[in-house]
Amino acid sequence: MADEPTGTNPEQNHAARLDALAIQVAGCTACPLAATRTQTVFGEGNPDAPLVIVGEGPGEQEDQTGRPFVGRAGMLLDECLLANGITRKHVYICNVLKCRACIIEGGRARNRPPAPDEMRACYPFLAEQLGILRPLVILSVGAPSAKTLIDPDIRMLQQRGQWRDGGAYCRHIMAVLHPAFILRHGGEEFQRFRQMLIDDIGSARRKVIEAKKQAQPALF
Ligand code: URA
Repeated sequence: MADEPTGTNPEQNHAARLDALAIQVAGCTACPLAATRTQTVFGEGNPDAPLVIVGEGPGEQEDQTGRPFVGRAGMLLDECLLANGITRKHVYICNVLKCRACIIEGGRARNRPPAPDEMRACYPFLAEQLGILRPLVILSVGAPSAKTLIDPDIRMLQQRGQWRDGGAYCRHIMAVLHPAFILRHGGEEFQRFRQMLIDDIGSARRKVIEAKKQAQPALF
């Protein structure tokens, strides 16, 4: 039998499989957020990244651009990644929700936390996305992400920064503070929470290095 041409094995071609899933997501009408979104925000980054970051859902800027974490929270996330020598080229970033959750107040759309029904409706897409990516390590950013991927009863301030078994999703998973939460604080508290996120990302970097060593296949 002739060798399969490089890149046609679906097991190897994460990027093509993610593209196909992104097309399905773009046509989704499974929950009412389909009616209010500008566009879906599927996720982006290195499709072979050992580290995947899973946030809550798109906000206004993400809904406008179609890209995850591009607003103020995204800038803080980038800064905390960079403090550990990590850029977006090294990771893959996505969210639990692929559409912006918002309420209209005073004629303006304002971001709101995702509703349980919306997270349930979107979950099959996230599960499939992570099944394609198969990262070694996941950082679950903020409560909705950590409740979806780690523990529905997780308490973020007490339990962030703790490594857990990643189960079906990955080798190791950790909940970290959401940069939008950090931005809601000022002064010393802001600095303390920001440093926690930097430290937790540093711990993830080390975990990836450690997990890669363990993942080395034996020569024979
Ligand atoms: N917050 C998130 O959780 N995800 C985004 O993409 C942007 C802000």
